[in-house]
Amino acid sequence: MIRRTTPPATTPATGDEGLLAAVPLLALDRQQAVLGDAIRAAIGRVCDSGRFVLGPDVTELEAELAKALDVPHAISCASGSDALLLALMALGVGAGDEVVLPSYTFFATASAVTRLGAVPIFADIDPVTYLVDPADVQRKISKRCRAIVPVHLFGRTADMDALLPIASAAGVPIVEDAAQSILSTWHGRCSGGLGDVGCFSFYPTKNLGGAGDGGFLTTTRDDVAKTLRLLRVHGMEPRYYHELIGINSRLDTIQAAVLRVKLPHLDAWTSSRQENAAGYRALFAEYGLEGHITVPGDEPRGRHVWNQFVIRVAGGRRDALRAHLAQRGVGTEIYYPVPLHLQKCFAHLGWAEGDLPETERAAKETLALPIFPELRPDEQRTVVARIAEFCGTARRTSAPDTKTAQPTAAGQLPAPHFLRRAVGKADDVRC
Ligand SMILES: Cc1ncc(COP(=O)(O)O)c(C=O)c1O
Repeated sequence: MIRRTTPPATTPATGDEGLLAAVPLLALDRQQAVLGDAIRAAIGRVCDSGRFVLGPDVTELEAELAKALDVPHAISCASGSDALLLALMALGVGAGDEVVLPSYTFFATASAVTRLGAVPIFADIDPVTYLVDPADVQRKISKRCRAIVPVHLFGRTADMDALLPIASAAGVPIVEDAAQSILSTWHGRCSGGLGDVGCFSFYPTKNLGGAGDGGFLTTTRDDVAKTLRLLRVHGMEPRYYHELIGINSRLDTIQAAVLRVKLPHLDAWTSSRQENAAGYRALFAEYGLEGHITVPGDEPRGRHVWNQFVIRVAGGRRDALRAHLAQRGVGTEIYYPVPLHLQKCFAHLGWAEGDLPETERAAKETLALPIFPELRPDEQRTVVARIAEFCGTARRTSAPDTKTAQPTAAGQLPAPHFLRRAVGKADDVRC
């Protein structure tokens, strides 16, 4: 857990006094500084064992993940992208089928569909949460629909109260893309255990990131779990006898060993992310930015795990703000500048500008700010003061102490029963 220090007493809204020269978007080196010795020892143990693929640490990790997420089955694989592919394969999605999913997401959500010869049918998003709009999902379902893939984007669970009945009425399964939302909940249940299959990523920028690629699937269905375990090893059981045509998507033991060092810290890191989100909201109010910037709210029906803190900058000024922040050393990212329905590789599907207005607006107006668990209060203040500089707003009164800024009621919902023990540089590629 990050200990907050009292922020500087007087920091002007303009000028450089008291502000930091740089704030990184992500600083994995701070996690490494705390856990580096344990991680190196864990990697060493795997190397000594010589069991590099699906070794004992993988089995242990799967059991620990199932317990943490309170699901009967957690099945690891080589990446979040493969998790999506395996989920759709296990549910029998194939050529000519349709799958309804948001366009405002990482590419992997849709590419898994097209790799099976199925057709992605894109639905628009809610402009406040950026999550898939259930009403548009309903409109997009046809007789050919074989699955719905909501994405729990930025760490917030999609509106499952609305989506589950839609899927049930259509007689199709839900594959949750939970790559960005490990430990997020919906009415107290973890994402990944709400639909038929949940897909997670261990990509290093995720809330639980490995030392490379990795992913896992969750399901409450015994039949699907059995199929997923087969599909990730070429459908092979026993050795050299193939029941199904699967793929090679196994988790390296080294990844599992690293992730087992990190998993006990995930709940505390998540709480720090929630504190940072609350801290930002207090700072944006303090600097009078309400009319200029829209900040994301918490989720009253569950736990938002804040993989990203994404603001909206209206009036065509998003890119100029990003450039202003970059010049002052503040790291930001745009998720996602070109929505999937307008990507060149999907041109043959016939989508055009204007088809998904809220998705297209979000792609032009949103900007992700640093929110990683180890982010310090003085860094958060620098980020917001730099935004105030750009918007020309002034700091209002004495600073509310972000140390005492509390998460909202939603942030205080009980975490999944779990742990509560005891967290570089950002990777070049982000998803
Ligand atoms: C929403 C979403 N889905 C799927 C993926 C794919 O995961 P991976 O990078 O582990 O393949 C990512 C990003 O990594 C993602 O953000």
